[in-house]
Amino acid sequence: TAIVAVVPAAGIGSRMQADRPKQYLTIGSLTILEHTLLKLAAHPAISRVVVALSPDDEYFEQLALHNADWLTKVYGGETRADSVSNALAQLADHEWALVHDAARPCVSNEDIANLVSQIDNPLFSGGILATPVKDTMKRARPGEPALVLKTESRDNLWHALTPQLFKAGQLREALADALANGIEVTDEASAMEYAGVPVALIDSNPANIKITRPADLPVAQFYLQHNLR
Ligand code: C5P
Repeated sequence: TAIVAVVPAAGIGSRMQADRPKQYLTIGSLTILEHTLLKLAAHPAISRVVVALSPDDEYFEQLALHNADWLTKVYGGETRADSVSNALAQLADHEWALVHDAARPCVSNEDIANLVSQIDNPLFSGGILATPVKDTMKRARPGEPALVLKTESRDNLWHALTPQLFKAGQLREALADALANGIEVTDEASAMEYAGVPVALIDSNPANIKITRPADLPVAQFYLQHNLR
């Protein structure tokens, strides 16, 4: 089965307060984006990686892998969903798109393999890595200061992570449809849910964090070195 990895990497990472987009900060000798791309390219089922970059990007072509033969570059868009849509334009409808955040370099080979192994399951039309919620969940009233409105039940509540794996043609249509209808699309699964497609939750190592704030960097470095559960 042909699987193409799609990596939205066109964000500016404002919450990181760094001098460059967070995907270009380094952990060890490689940038976060390189860690992520190399991990995906190393998977035997992934034949190609399409990366969406900002039109203003001045860092990517300085990376050692910028001209790798398994890599296709496209421009990203205003939102993550736009960036993913631009990348999906490079894929054939029947190919599987494995969409993965540039900012999640700690994903394990094992978890990618778990998700990919579901492709042959007749019940599977798409799925995402996810991890069950552990903390008690509070919903706040709108406004400042934040005051508790109520406690949400934790039963059957999961954190949605990436990779998220769907048929490229189906995902392309679902994203276009959701965006045209003003649906908030913060991950690919949101669009597939809107289209009524069942989405499987595949239990992931919670070390698969999205690097967002400065404090996430040393944590990611630790996970990259130790691959802990
Ligand atoms: O901002 P956030 O951490 O949610 O971004 C998730 C991923 O989507 C990041 O890898 C970021 O680079 C990417 N992104 C994008 N195009 C945008 C916004 C975010 O490719 N317009």
